[in-house]
Amino acid sequence: MAARAEARPALHRPLSPRTSFRRAVPRRSAKVRPSADRVDRIHRIDQIDPFSSADNGSPKIFSAPGAPEPGGEALIVVGGRRLSGTVAVSGSKNASLALLAGALLTRRRVALRGVPDIGDVRQMLALVESLGAAWEWRGGCLQVCAAGLGARSRPHPVDDAAARSLRASFIAVGPLLARTGVARMPLPGGCAIGPRPVDITLAGMRALGARVAVDHDSGWVEARCDGRLRGGNVALRLPSVGATQAVMMAGALADGRTVISNAAREPEVVDLAGMMRKMGARISGPGSREVVVDGVGELGGASASVRADRIEAGTLMAAGAITGSGIRLLGIEPENVAATAGLLERMGCGVARGEAGGLAVVPGGELLGADVVARPHPGFPTDLQPVFAPVMAAARGRSSVRDAVFEGRWAHAEQLRRMGARISVRGDTATVVGRPPLGGRPQLKGAHLEASDLRAAAGLVVAALAAEGLSIIHNLHHLDRGYDGLDRKLASLGAEVYRSAEWAALQPGSTESTVQPGL
Ligand code: EPZ
Repeated sequence: MAARAEARPALHRPLSPRTSFRRAVPRRSAKVRPSADRVDRIHRIDQIDPFSSADNGSPKIFSAPGAPEPGGEALIVVGGRRLSGTVAVSGSKNASLALLAGALLTRRRVALRGVPDIGDVRQMLALVESLGAAWEWRGGCLQVCAAGLGARSRPHPVDDAAARSLRASFIAVGPLLARTGVARMPLPGGCAIGPRPVDITLAGMRALGARVAVDHDSGWVEARCDGRLRGGNVALRLPSVGATQAVMMAGALADGRTVISNAAREPEVVDLAGMMRKMGARISGPGSREVVVDGVGELGGASASVRADRIEAGTLMAAGAITGSGIRLLGIEPENVAATAGLLERMGCGVARGEAGGLAVVPGGELLGADVVARPHPGFPTDLQPVFAPVMAAARGRSSVRDAVFEGRWAHAEQLRRMGARISVRGDTATVVGRPPLGGRPQLKGAHLEASDLRAAAGLVVAALAAEGLSIIHNLHHLDRGYDGLDRKLASLGAEVYRSAEWAALQPGSTESTVQPGL
């Protein structure tokens, strides 16, 4: 017993003279820096007295400071600015989280380029670190080494808070089980977008020979196997992204062949498979409905680059469309946002392939309503339906959005109604009756808004860009979980957006929520 305990390196202990990892705060992206003009605007917003009546005679919108959001900031958006210019899209959040879980598959070093510096990545790093991995940022490269993962069959420690805060934490069950024979993990959290069970992942682990126990009272799951997992046929009840990734990782170190049918086809599955192949995994079919994994005894290190975030790109496309602005996005592969571009085109807004890669949003006059169903890839992504709801709210005519993935993902609807949007929700479908600008003036009005989750927050930012007057968006930590400086990028395109801790402490003081701050 004692010998086993000794065999396990202590957390943070240098792994070898050549791999002395330490914790480091990643550098913020240098791609978008606040311009001198923006610094000046930030200075000016600090001079506004939020408690005074707006100087156009509108009723004041605030009462007294409320309880400040813990360490929080609010985003203040002055609507109606036209955007222009070019912006680089950051690396994909969801691909990064999957690759970080994938790094647990090997004792060797994994080097990842293009990982965004966002809240969810930091939480995932806390999780892998608690499991015994060491990591550091070197320049723009995140290096992870999971040599310190628990010895076989010993339960590993786990950062409970980090694991519960992230849905992606649960995919770590796959590599943990495959490498150590035991995975003990709390039931995951993540964005509050409706029920998010883990039964498909657990059924996959059982199909590979694991014994799984779920303690609903304590909220913990434990999966164990004797010796190696053994390959098997895993038919997924739904094409779950997380379950596909977890089973793919478990199968990579299992004995024999694993066939995953009804697999998720999201690019984040393809990206994980790509890195795993570089590590020596034998995988075919990622990106199709059937993924075949032939297990190997051990995997090695690898270097991988994270591709641009298709959801961030879609958010910026929505920002361009709703403000009637032509903007260019660098780094994004147009094929990755095909369904999003298709929706925009049906709404009357062009999307063109950029000459030097990337794409351009080309406004085409008035936005028109359209119907869309959010489906698994290659369908229109569920993550973008809260972001496009405001675009529909500002378009002419009626639109409908059905979310066939997360049917309860409608927390943004009430907030958009505060801005004057006509949006009603029934079951998995929202109907939006557009209110396009009238006589050149937007019909959506700035308001005091509360973000409830990551994509709802992004949708509120998009809505505020096109609303008349000023909007204050609270609970900005939701946005920061998954966007690498969205506000900085929008500012670099000409949006008027500010962060303020002081304003985060304000609460709505009246039902009248429109203000012209006279900035
Ligand atoms: C991934 O979540 C993404 N997260 C989500 O992005 C995204 O919305 C989702 O895929 C769908 O595209 C990450 O990659 C970290 P699923 P995941 O398993 O893997 C049901 C964002 O905003 N299901 O594909 O958790 C589930 O309830 C986030 O960036 C089960 O019933 O999603 C859902 O209805 C939010 N049992 C459907 O399957 C299970 O065991 C698809 O979920 C697993 C899933």
